[in-house]
Amino acid sequence: LGPLRSLAVRAGIEFGTAVSASHLDEDSVYRTLLSREFSSITPENEMKWESLGPEPGRYVWENADRIVAFARAHQQRIRGHTLVWHNQMPVWLKPDAFSPDELRKILQRHIQTVVGRYRGSIWQWDVVNEAFNEDGTFRDTLWYRAFGGPEYIAWAFRWAKEADPQALLFYNDYNLEFPSPKADAVLSFLARLKAEGVPIDGIGLQGHISLRYGFPHAQELLDHVRRFVDAGFYVAFTEVDVRMPLPRDNTKDLAQAQVYTQILSTCLALKGKCLSFSIWGFPDKYSWVPGFFPGEGAATPIADDYSPKPAWYQMGLLL
Ligand code: XIL
Repeated sequence: LGPLRSLAVRAGIEFGTAVSASHLDEDSVYRTLLSREFSSITPENEMKWESLGPEPGRYVWENADRIVAFARAHQQRIRGHTLVWHNQMPVWLKPDAFSPDELRKILQRHIQTVVGRYRGSIWQWDVVNEAFNEDGTFRDTLWYRAFGGPEYIAWAFRWAKEADPQALLFYNDYNLEFPSPKADAVLSFLARLKAEGVPIDGIGLQGHISLRYGFPHAQELLDHVRRFVDAGFYVAFTEVDVRMPLPRDNTKDLAQAQVYTQILSTCLALKGKCLSFSIWGFPDKYSWVPGFFPGEGAATPIADDYSPKPAWYQMGLLL
């Protein structure tokens, strides 16, 4: 099996992963696999507001810069993640500390600062992350309140576009991979903004899947994702991982491989419109899953000892 990054690029998509600056510094096997196997990388936490802006007006760029430098050295694309989110916000950014007008200015300045700094280096920006509830209503966040509604979303895209006209601008969310009220609401809202001239290029489907729940069959998944493409958007699978109830065993590994390959083949079937397939980190021991979903884990295609799991081999065969 050749490196997945070259197989993917030959097949017409980018193959990516989330990356963490601390593992980059400390783990040489990680570095080797990262450069050899992936053509796109996404900072897992290093470009979030909490990481970049510990104090009002003060930015720390070191960790994000190291990832950008690594990508440049290895001819990798970068997915910038993420500008507007309700999680991992700096502690100083409290709703009662600022007026709505101040908050709007703070958001604008943040987007200009971060997108401006990396202007020309970022392939896709996740401009807005997770703005919807499961039932399709808007999530009640600091930004929703400051703007008195969802207008912050359009503004965020406009400000990002001004700061880097070349980057592809994405809305990113989870549970968009299958038909749901949330997927419908996201699609119709973004299509309306696009029709009004708001610069939105793509929709990121995170792809955090659990073997506990059912997953659509291949044709159903393809038909569903095609709706986003037919509405004029690029799509990208941005954070794919497939968690299983622990302990790991061979049957679960094979079920996991099937979900990974099904998502990858959906992206391949839409190549040109589906730009990239990114996993949310590797190997299993570095995944966020065990810390967030008690009793589940082993969610990446690479085992703790860096041996490839069935999901990895089967994705290679598909590419
Ligand atoms: C996760 C990271 O993987 C963790 O390290 C961090 O503690 C919390 O955030 N959706 C997203 C990602 O958009 O930013 C999240 O990443 C996972 C869910």
